[in-house]
Amino acid sequence: MTQLPPLFSLDEMKSKHEPPHPGISNGLTGQDILSVNQFDPDLIDYIFSRAVEMREMVAKSGASDLLKGFVLACLFYEPSTRTSSSFIAAMERLGGSVIPITQGVQFSSVSKGETLADTVRTLEQYADAIVLRHPEIGSAKVAADYASVPILNAGDGAGEHPTQALLDLFTIREELGRLNGLKVAMVGDLRFGRTVHSLTKLLTQYDVSLRFVSPEILRLPLTIMNDVIDAGLNVRETHDVADVIENADVLYVTRVQKERFNDLAQYEEVKSHYEITPELLERAKEKMIVLHPLPRVGEIHYAVDHDPRAAYFRQVQNGMFIRMALLAAVLGKA
Ligand code: NCD
Repeated sequence: MTQLPPLFSLDEMKSKHEPPHPGISNGLTGQDILSVNQFDPDLIDYIFSRAVEMREMVAKSGASDLLKGFVLACLFYEPSTRTSSSFIAAMERLGGSVIPITQGVQFSSVSKGETLADTVRTLEQYADAIVLRHPEIGSAKVAADYASVPILNAGDGAGEHPTQALLDLFTIREELGRLNGLKVAMVGDLRFGRTVHSLTKLLTQYDVSLRFVSPEILRLPLTIMNDVIDAGLNVRETHDVADVIENADVLYVTRVQKERFNDLAQYEEVKSHYEITPELLERAKEKMIVLHPLPRVGEIHYAVDHDPRAAYFRQVQNGMFIRMALLAAVLGKA
């Protein structure tokens, strides 16, 4: 992989960020989306309502010109299929256009040693917002401190993935009709999985029970567990998916994040720890859902795809509606 240029440390920086545009009701206009901590249940409901409208609009007419004249830059320093494609599709279905730096930053000046700070300060000369995926925790915040246009965090290393968490939560609500009262089990790489980190933090705002299922070395980071405990939620950790399968309303399965391991031998030890099979699902509730942020690399057998409870491709589609809603909100059009 290309050697990445060094990032500035957060301490070295003074915020150059513009204040939010005055007089806008959704609270997101002109704002970065860096963490799920920015979202309370009212704002989440607002985004979900906009996403439902986007779904209806797409079903009726396929596209609109809500964001006509706006340009989005997609800057991806890590591989992506769904996140990049759904942001691009979202922007295009709203009549906007995209600068796609998603096919590998080795084809951009990053490979000449340009820093993230300079890259975002360049892209903002062309674009109204920047979607960023980067391997370092905190990188989205660094970019936001330099850019005067909104930065949307599409994954900062093992940190957060807020737009994914919103689409995950939206999928749960759409599939099961509610959020409160649910039992949510997270399975797999809870340590490095940024989607788990963001979704868990979002769920602390609801009345849910959480079960964390992982091998010992992939347990949820303590800071996030403390958030869950502080929120007073019913929570338990286990190594065994059999402990949670019968009661779970949501089984959120994740890939072991190979790229975050320093020791690949350790990865090999845990990579195939969990496999969701039709036999396992026979013991699950009739009305429950299996989610996965994807890509999967063997955690969910293909045979499970035929089960109506397998909601991961419907989850993919929701990603586009949520990102349409978020782009419209950030750009002052929702
Ligand atoms: C996830 C990611 O990149 O964090 N994928 C995604 O955005 N849908 C999950 C993963 O890579 O395992």
